[in-house]
Amino acid sequence: MDEAQETIATPLTERLGCRYPIISAGMGGPARSELAAAVSQAGGFGLLGMVRESPALIAQEIAAVRQRTNRAFGVNLIPACTQPKLLEDELAACFDAGVPAMCFFWDVDAAAIAKAKRAGCLVLYQVGSVADAKKAEDAGADVIIVQGVEAGGHVWGRRGLSVLLPEVADAVEVPVAASGGIVDGRGLAAALALGGDGIHCGTAFLASVESFAHDYHKQRLVAAGPDETVHTDLFVINWPKGAPVRVLKNSQTEAAGDKLWGYDPDEMPREVIGHDDGNPIHRLDTNSPLRRTTGDLEAMALYSGDGVARVNAIEPARAIVERIMAEAIAAIRANAAAITA
Ligand SMILES: Cc1cc2nc3c(=O)[nH]c(=O)nc-3n(C[C@H](O)[C@H](O)[C@H](O)COP(=O)(O)O)c2cc1C
Repeated sequence: MDEAQETIATPLTERLGCRYPIISAGMGGPARSELAAAVSQAGGFGLLGMVRESPALIAQEIAAVRQRTNRAFGVNLIPACTQPKLLEDELAACFDAGVPAMCFFWDVDAAAIAKAKRAGCLVLYQVGSVADAKKAEDAGADVIIVQGVEAGGHVWGRRGLSVLLPEVADAVEVPVAASGGIVDGRGLAAALALGGDGIHCGTAFLASVESFAHDYHKQRLVAAGPDETVHTDLFVINWPKGAPVRVLKNSQTEAAGDKLWGYDPDEMPREVIGHDDGNPIHRLDTNSPLRRTTGDLEAMALYSGDGVARVNAIEPARAIVERIMAEAIAAIRANAAAITA
């Protein structure tokens, strides 16, 4: 407990029981215990990204978070891309461990929300439209995360965050966190001004010291300038057809040229281009390179949000959280000071 920094208390910090209105996204692969724990311990709210992981790994990672912090955290799962039996076992692993919060994404799965509520969890739901925000709230979600099209990784939002966020904030009663392209305190200040109660960041924490992403991926994020991300469904092997992602441009997106949409995972050849923990990685599958991944890293899915040009260093998660807060408070003060009669 050593936060000297001022904070901005919002309905989101109240609901989640954290000091700062900053959630780190449950990025499948990179958001393991080191990152989630570091963000929660720094005063934000950390999410473990456990999509399609085994129940054994989930139990292990939950225990590892608890060894590093006694603060609240959550686990992210994606029902729509997970076989029902595995999803059931994953949920059971989370509930048996008594996780304080679950975060879900993609199609609104009312049954998953109901199960998590029955198990006593807070439920965060990341959505990409006003209709889904209402559906998730009606099904019992405690927090809505609004994803704009600027987001990195899998992108359910089709519209810009600056238009979608105020619409969702008006449409639901529960606290709302803004997601997509936010990497600094100006983004947090803007989210609050647009009716949000906080932010949910992936890319900003993907480039942290604690992230489980491969150093090659982190270095590519730091080096990236404006206009270097691509919105496409090219990296779709392992997911249902028609799942857009945002990635850094690489040899694969260059080879695709103008044909960035319309890929069908069932029609795509399987070519092994690397391995992770003994498992093969195929060209154009959804695996991004992690710490232990070997192979053609450049050709893999190098997920990135569109705010990446302002990610300029690989920093500890605590420094990222504290910098975002200090910048947001400075931006809000500067704007308030400009108000005149
Ligand atoms: C590397 C990476 C992996 C992601 N994996 C997941 C995931 O497993 N589950 C999920 O709900 N969202 C996932 N996302 C999306 C994030 O939840 C969030 O919408 C996105 O990071 C916000 O945009 P930003 O990266 O510009 O901050 C991922 C994003 C990235 C960058």
